[in-house]
Amino acid sequence: GEGEGSGDYRADAQFGASGSKKLEAVSEFAMTKTIAEQRAFLPIFGCREHLLTVIRDNSVVILVGETGSGKTTQIAQYLHEDDYTTYGLVGCTQPRRVAAMSVAKRVSEEVGCELGDEVGYSIRFEDVTSERTLIKYMTDGVLLRESLTEPDLDRYSAIIMDEAHERSLNTDVLFGILKKVVSRRRDMKLIVTSATMDSDKFSEFFGNVPIFRIPGRCFPVDIMFAKQPADDYVEAAVKQAIQIHLSYGAGDILIFMTGQEDILATCSAITDRLEEIGDQVPLITVLPVYSLLPSELQAKIFDKAEGGARKVIVATNIAETSLTVDG
Ligand SMILES: Nc1ncnc2c1ncn2[C@@H]1O[C@H](COP(=O)(O)OP(=O)(O)O)[C@@H](O)[C@H]1O
Ligand SMILES: [Mg+2]
Repeated sequence: GEGEGSGDYRADAQFGASGSKKLEAVSEFAMTKTIAEQRAFLPIFGCREHLLTVIRDNSVVILVGETGSGKTTQIAQYLHEDDYTTYGLVGCTQPRRVAAMSVAKRVSEEVGCELGDEVGYSIRFEDVTSERTLIKYMTDGVLLRESLTEPDLDRYSAIIMDEAHERSLNTDVLFGILKKVVSRRRDMKLIVTSATMDSDKFSEFFGNVPIFRIPGRCFPVDIMFAKQPADDYVEAAVKQAIQIHLSYGAGDILIFMTGQEDILATCSAITDRLEEIGDQVPLITVLPVYSLLPSELQAKIFDKAEGGARKVIVATNIAETSLTVDG
């Protein structure tokens, strides 16, 4: 509500680095990193070679990985980079038309071509591909129609059935067709991406084919234990944060507290205590995060702190698993 909003604004004025900065739709990460760096940062990149080996050794592979791991945008490019496009197209089916269009656009940017050149898409009544196209995103329906005139799908060297768990009628029919195609064509690769719960079923359907799981993203985290349990955990956290800030090099600090009151108390204690120490204290930005804080203020935790300051984020434990902060 309105009332809470103004209260939260005070919290921001007190602790925030820059009061008026607008929420940006594009993260600092996306703006400052090159496309190659962004690609290399995706979880799937860490297992690229292993995945390509498994694909080389098997006609069909089921691929499981959490959202954002890079399945949709990267696999087609990996297959292209691994020369599958020298003797055919890499096709990737999407359950929805809008997904086929938007992902093709993104991948064309990553590859560095015009949409419809090396990377294109085909949806019903709209074919944005050319004779130069090597990677083609399409709906299940388009591939199904192509299979009617070209039963072995000879134009393709590899097919990715993306988000196979989002079944449609076309998906089920395609499954049957593709199973026959891979049994007739030893040179055809089929990769089926799926949610965890369906992966066993899909693997069984194609003859107990391997399930490749993309490991989740891991960040290096140092865990240090206190020798004594703390009586006053706010005080203990404040002391620990100050000690880390004054004696360790670059790196942000994330503190979990049980609720808004503790969070605000922790933030003001850290700020006050450091102010008392004086001007020579390295730059620091202390940011509270709790559910009632307006989302544009919550979003500040994703901004890079000004002047290379260390960020200290004090949050409820909702942030412990559900938020990813670059850096
Ligand atoms: N249209 C897009 N514009 C900008 N970045 C995108 C776009 N699509 C995907 N990305 C980036 O690529 C990353 C990987 O996405 P994606 O390959 O779709 O993963 P998955 O299919 O495993 O969910 C995303 O986290 C995002 O950073
Ligand atoms: Mg995807």
